[in-house]
Amino acid sequence: MSEIDQYAVFGSPIKHSKSPRIHQLFAEQTQQVMQYTALLVPADKFDLELKGFFAKGGRGLNCTVPLKELAWESAEIRTERAELAKAVNTLLVQKDGRILGDNTDGIGLVTDLQDNHGIELKQKRVLILGAGGASRGIILPILEESPASITIANRTVEKALTLADEFSHKGSVVGSSYADLAGQNFDLILNATSASLSDELPPLASGILAEQGSCYDLAYANKPTAFVRWAREQQASKSLDGLGMLVEQAAEAFYLWRNVRPDTAPVIQMLEAERNS
Ligand code: ATR
Repeated sequence: MSEIDQYAVFGSPIKHSKSPRIHQLFAEQTQQVMQYTALLVPADKFDLELKGFFAKGGRGLNCTVPLKELAWESAEIRTERAELAKAVNTLLVQKDGRILGDNTDGIGLVTDLQDNHGIELKQKRVLILGAGGASRGIILPILEESPASITIANRTVEKALTLADEFSHKGSVVGSSYADLAGQNFDLILNATSASLSDELPPLASGILAEQGSCYDLAYANKPTAFVRWAREQQASKSLDGLGMLVEQAAEAFYLWRNVRPDTAPVIQMLEAERNS
């Protein structure tokens, strides 16, 4: 492999990934000499590609859909947040040669909420929509900010109850159906369903967002998602999507790899400007 430190993102599809752009901007800003490429890797090729990448001297890897669970299995050791997330989005070679798996999605979300948007989690009643991989990845980092409670609502209610159970030793986490949310209200609603990808909306009753409450869609798109549009109708104090989370999870991976923390604000600004143009 070349002299330049090599990084990559594996996924399928991967063509529209913003990660190469984000990491290139981080590298320029922090004057790190490195190369970051996107590679189309389907699930059945993952093991082979992963071994090849690190055998050739690759330094660090991001994994996205549908590879995060496979990356979790491949990691020789895992951080606690990755362990509980059962998904890994960042791999790196440690000094002892072992491959460490981490999950920077949740911390990326928390940083975007708190540092970029001033939405504090402490003592807040948080509602997470969805009980799939995206939800699992954010629960521990949110609990670490001491919210009053986390409620997980899901169409298939059993999945919400099981997921809540897995985290209940870490804080107040309960599972719910959508119907049972009626009559309650929440300071922050996070959409971690994949509904946004097909411009659909989970079945949300009006009135579940507290006054001055905010909404955040973990997905992002060039146009406001169905959930962001719903949040605006509810007059949420802030109605945000996941572009900032995307940049912040990348920054956390970059920090793990290079031990340098990039300034995310100009990168978020640039991506925001591009999608509005
Ligand atoms: P991911 O890894 O992106 O979380 P996933 O594990 O397939 O993907 O989970 C998708 C989540 O979105 C699930 O919680 C799913 O609800 P079900 O478990 O009931 O299927 C949720 N979801 C997808 N489309 C939805 C929709 N139109 N309305 C509500 N929830 C939806």
